[in-house]
Amino acid sequence: MVSRVIPVDDFDIVIFGATGDLAHRKILPGLFRRFVAGQIPATARIIGAARTEQDDDGFRAEAASAIAEFAGVKKNDPHLAQFLELLGYTAIDAKGEGGWNALKSRMREGAVHAFYLSVAPSLFGDIAERLAGHGIADDNSRVVVEKPFGRDLASARALNQVLARHFDEHQVYRIDHYLGKETVQNLMAVRFANILFEPLWNAQHVDHVQITVAETVGVAGRGSYYDKSGAIRDMVQNHMMQLLCLIAMEPPYHFDPDAVRDEKLKVIRALEPLKPEDIVRGQYHAEGGDGSYLDDAENPDSRTESYVAMKVRISNWRWQGTPFYLRTGKKLRARTSEIAITFKEPPHSIFDDSGVPKANELVIRLQPNEGMNLKVMIKEPGPGGMRLVQVPLDMSFAVALGADGADMPDAYERLIMDVIRGNQTLFMRGDEVEAAWAWTDPIIEAWEDSKRRPEPYDSGSSGPEEALRLMHRDNRRWRELRA
Ligand code: BG6
Repeated sequence: MVSRVIPVDDFDIVIFGATGDLAHRKILPGLFRRFVAGQIPATARIIGAARTEQDDDGFRAEAASAIAEFAGVKKNDPHLAQFLELLGYTAIDAKGEGGWNALKSRMREGAVHAFYLSVAPSLFGDIAERLAGHGIADDNSRVVVEKPFGRDLASARALNQVLARHFDEHQVYRIDHYLGKETVQNLMAVRFANILFEPLWNAQHVDHVQITVAETVGVAGRGSYYDKSGAIRDMVQNHMMQLLCLIAMEPPYHFDPDAVRDEKLKVIRALEPLKPEDIVRGQYHAEGGDGSYLDDAENPDSRTESYVAMKVRISNWRWQGTPFYLRTGKKLRARTSEIAITFKEPPHSIFDDSGVPKANELVIRLQPNEGMNLKVMIKEPGPGGMRLVQVPLDMSFAVALGADGADMPDAYERLIMDVIRGNQTLFMRGDEVEAAWAWTDPIIEAWEDSKRRPEPYDSGSSGPEEALRLMHRDNRRWRELRA
């Protein structure tokens, strides 16, 4: 069961960096799938813009190969031929004047105009200035930018200022692809479309929350980017922070972009500064060294973390006293993203020796096997008296909704369509990004000053031993990492 497709208005989208990896892997395949689903009008235009000199046909051939590879379609698929008709290309000099007039002549009056800056952030200013200077962008245009949105508060602020010179905040769409994931949006549906959970969703009833984003891949192939970033910049400041916000925020008064983002911002601002003893960094290593982080990053002295675990506290009425444990890492035992809410134990047991009731636990699986699992206590069947046992109420969204993974739109598909629709709910506002950096900056600085090395952990393991101790100290345990 997949929802009805509502076509978007006619649009022209310009993809800067159209010959790059993101365009090939995500943007073009995403647009193609939405076209096949009937959401994109046949008159829409998708204009590639990059430094490479090529004509429309050259770009169409390039796009066809990328879509065949990453959307899993045959090159002779009839939809693909129709989709390629929408494509055009203009060679552009982002720092000079070449190509801008040609680009302008391709844009149609009356269509929605979106500019996707799939380029290095250092080019945002140049491109924004030329779009405005040549009269290509106007007050109704939208500009889409990707992470990394800065590498600290100062650089994020500078990027916001550069964009603000030519675009109003309501025109800027900062992508965090986690917000485009169906199951991440489901966090809001589960919380705010059911009465069951919300009365218990507070420090009085929740013992602690675990947020896990574990990956099996390493950083080979993108080591030079990753080594300057590390798990905190790459995952915590953005994706993990967004998950934390959606779990911890107050109900927005309406499902509306600013109402949702106001509530997320309040959570970020309420985060307590992290204490040094509440964070563990790790770096994967492999027996014999081959395949270790240090090889993949091609930096034998690197202190960059490929794993981080932290205990986070939110200083507000709802969450005072309930810790949120976050962990994310590469080359771990399983690829799994989930949020587990462990409730408190019942205050009193009426069942003498027949078993102590255990705490209820709600696990929301984000990927793979999207679904929910609620652990509840029941009576063990049989004549042996009143014995208690904990069992899972397990729901797979695919089974419950009759959808298989192939029906679920990829995060980028959803987000690009939201840009065309002009809906910013699932995009980060400038102040939100800055607040997230304001919280992570001191954590990163303290580490840089400390000269410590990350804890080694074996590739394929659950992470460093120290991370286990972070939990044991509080008499708690991480959930097992299982795919
Ligand atoms: C990206 C990070 O933003 O998210 C990657 O840069 C990470 O390092 C990826 O692997 C994870 O995304 P997903 O959708 O595979 O969970």
